[in-house]
Amino acid sequence: MEIQNRFRETRKFSERLAAPLSPEDCVVQSMEDASPTRWHLAHTTWFFETFILCQQADYTCFDDAFGYLFNSYYNTIGEQFPRAQRGLLSRPGLERIWQYRRHVDQQILERLDQPDFADKFHRLIEIGIQHEQQHQELILTDIKHVLSCNPVWPIYEDLPLQCSGQPAARDPLLIEAGIHEVGHTGDGFAFDNESPRHKSYLHACRIDGRLVTCGEYAEFIDAGGYDRPEMWLSLGWATVQQQGWQAPLYWQRAEGEWKQFTLAGMQPIDEHAPVTHISFFEADAYARWRGKRLPTEFEWEVAAATMPIAEDDQFVDRLIAGGRAIHPTCSPSGLCGAVWQWTSSSYLGYPGYHPPAGAVGEYNGKFMCDQHVLRGGSVATHSQHIRHTYRNFFPAHTRWQFSGIRLAE
Ligand code: AVJ
Ligand code: FE
Repeated sequence: MEIQNRFRETRKFSERLAAPLSPEDCVVQSMEDASPTRWHLAHTTWFFETFILCQQADYTCFDDAFGYLFNSYYNTIGEQFPRAQRGLLSRPGLERIWQYRRHVDQQILERLDQPDFADKFHRLIEIGIQHEQQHQELILTDIKHVLSCNPVWPIYEDLPLQCSGQPAARDPLLIEAGIHEVGHTGDGFAFDNESPRHKSYLHACRIDGRLVTCGEYAEFIDAGGYDRPEMWLSLGWATVQQQGWQAPLYWQRAEGEWKQFTLAGMQPIDEHAPVTHISFFEADAYARWRGKRLPTEFEWEVAAATMPIAEDDQFVDRLIAGGRAIHPTCSPSGLCGAVWQWTSSSYLGYPGYHPPAGAVGEYNGKFMCDQHVLRGGSVATHSQHIRHTYRNFFPAHTRWQFSGIRLAE
């Protein structure tokens, strides 16, 4: 698809995700990690404006205050309004943010008609599109957290979950010992953190053909998983105790039955569906309890590269097109889709990695400390956003993303 159309479609899709929400829904910030919907809608717009339009001599900035309000973390560009207080910004109102979006959309699309501009800014527009797709996922995970704080269990969209049933038996993927190549191969878009492609020695291993299910995870809970320190990494056990964790985020036990809060409201737990909303610590403890382990990000990537992404694997655009709730209900036929999978790998730069020069260099590189890599994409990820070399990253205790488990041994 042409870049104009991809730009238009991506901008429209964010609005589609906000459509079920009321203006009040869009203001709330329920925790430091999560941002209000309005902020996401404005910040993604600010990104196109700052990195592309403000570089043009004939462009006048839409609103001088927005640089401070909607800059997330780019010190090269300027100071930022504190992240934890984004929910206090009741102004600019939602109407003004829609105007901002329309203004920037029109400016970008007009300029894209000029071949010189399109050539020169192609990569930045592509980054802006991919950036907006990342925030589309955050719009969903953040609003899910907001709604979950409300005891009347509001529904984001009243849609049926896709039927799952017994997961198909899938053979594990075998990786032979030896030197394997990992990282971005050169064609198509990739973020800087997927390069340089390089060699990695892998020991022989087996990666499960499917994701860990809710039923399997419930066995860990029933076996006292959350009460036995010997199952956990030290930091993980400390977190379990501090936070009082007894189950994945959004799980609740009522009259002996587990339920979970979803974007389609409170729902019974389907034992065959992939478990989700767990931290790295929980994924690691579960794997140890089963006598297995989490794959490294390179084992995962080598296994994934042998499996195409199938048409019916669960990504947000497909669930929406099919009139289905945004919730994981079955393992993908390959390794991508349904839930992000925690790997044992720390999020680090590949050998020879240097962040790009300038403000975009702050995009990924400066977060390479104290985070773990997740692979595969989830029900909240756009299908055009994911690829086998894609690296997501979050701190080990976080669990509001659609994160789950694929085991290795
Ligand atoms: C890759 C999802 C961790 O949430 O900060 C958004 C994505 N980067 N804007 C994040 C991102 C810049 C990033 N994660
Ligand atoms: Fe961002």
